[in-house]
Amino acid sequence: MILKDGIVFDPASGTRAVIDIFIKDELIEKIGPELAPRFQGEEIFDCANLWIFPGLVDMHVHLREPGYEYKETIETGTRAAAAGGFTTVACMANTLPVNDTPSVTRYIREKAEAQGVVEVLPIGSATKGLKGEQLAEMGLMREEGIVAVSDDGFPIRNAGILRLVLEYASRFELPVIDHCEDLVTSEGGSVHEGKTGTRMGLKGIPCVSESMVAARDILMSQWMEVPIHIAHVSCKATIDMIRWAKIQGIPVTCEVTPHHLALNVDDLFLSNYDASFKVNPPLRAEEDRVALLEALKEGVIDCIATDHAPHDPQVKMVEFEYAANGISGLETALPLVLEAGKQAEIPPLVLLEKMTVAPARILGIDRGTLEPGKLANLTIFDPDEAWTVDPSAFFSKGKNTPFAGRTLTGRVKATFFRGKAVFLDRGNPWGLIPVCAKEG
Ligand code: DOR
Repeated sequence: MILKDGIVFDPASGTRAVIDIFIKDELIEKIGPELAPRFQGEEIFDCANLWIFPGLVDMHVHLREPGYEYKETIETGTRAAAAGGFTTVACMANTLPVNDTPSVTRYIREKAEAQGVVEVLPIGSATKGLKGEQLAEMGLMREEGIVAVSDDGFPIRNAGILRLVLEYASRFELPVIDHCEDLVTSEGGSVHEGKTGTRMGLKGIPCVSESMVAARDILMSQWMEVPIHIAHVSCKATIDMIRWAKIQGIPVTCEVTPHHLALNVDDLFLSNYDASFKVNPPLRAEEDRVALLEALKEGVIDCIATDHAPHDPQVKMVEFEYAANGISGLETALPLVLEAGKQAEIPPLVLLEKMTVAPARILGIDRGTLEPGKLANLTIFDPDEAWTVDPSAFFSKGKNTPFAGRTLTGRVKATFFRGKAVFLDRGNPWGLIPVCAKEG
């Protein structure tokens, strides 16, 4: 199969060029100009004016299986991923049971192989039951395929256990991902602490709740010389801390979500207590949102991850303070990132780097590039198509999005995983018409 005349982005090599891609079986066979006339008998698809880039990599999703299949399954979550242009997703351990033993990891891996339409990389918990008391079975889970450890949903509870987690995880070359939140200062909070939250009559979660735990993590990483990755950064104060750490050469990396780039607490205020805007960390002040965009541009933020957190309506259609945290994010991620990036004048190639090769590098996996010989995991995207978000059309079971009814620009037309189309926009062969169907 030849994808002809697409605008090909390969952030790993800094490529942005109109070229052809030749896919053979599972692999990218060749990339270059004018490939089409040199091959005969192939299916040739005209990709003029469409973007082609490596399948997106999301290092932070919640697939909810096992245990919460009424919120999402590996099948529906990976279909949502494919529809959003992702071909690799790493799923967090806050399932039921928690992914803290090799048997749960094996279950997720086998389920993903049988029912997943894209690659699923399990993340094991750092501590048993996410409780912050005893270390999880990292080595055995590693043998079953985990790619990182995290107690996400919760922070790694104290510095003593963090020290052990870093020491133990580094033996197995497992990245440690921390959800930075001081549970004492955030207790009972459901909104960013500040004037807007007070006006809404809701208890706040201050930025210092995040930044003080990030500071602890950074100092521990410096002392132990072990990398740490900070999940879903939301505050300017945390960014300032990470910038300092990077200048010192401390091996810290971090991610930001599309919703923290796109929304602030005033959007929540205007939503009239709509719990689909409720997420942890909460949507912050405009000053924080701008700082996140600047940090993305500057390179202080390493990558973008959705924190896809699908929920059933029962836990969202309650009073705001009792509602569950989380946004179903896979199917709206890329257009939101491009829109926010445009405001901050961040080139699409840089944004795509943060969604492909950058998270792959942090996880230590060979993904997110379009070189010949690599797996043909790639996405075809129309950067100009406008569409309106309709959660009822989501592949995800989680319809909990604050973007319902919003018009976004840019739409995934097709996603290929190992050379096979796993998503085609509205069932149409990605809106493309073969210009030269197989002879005869
Ligand atoms: O909003 C969130 N939802 N933040 C988290 O850290 C966890 C996640 C979930 O599991 O629902």
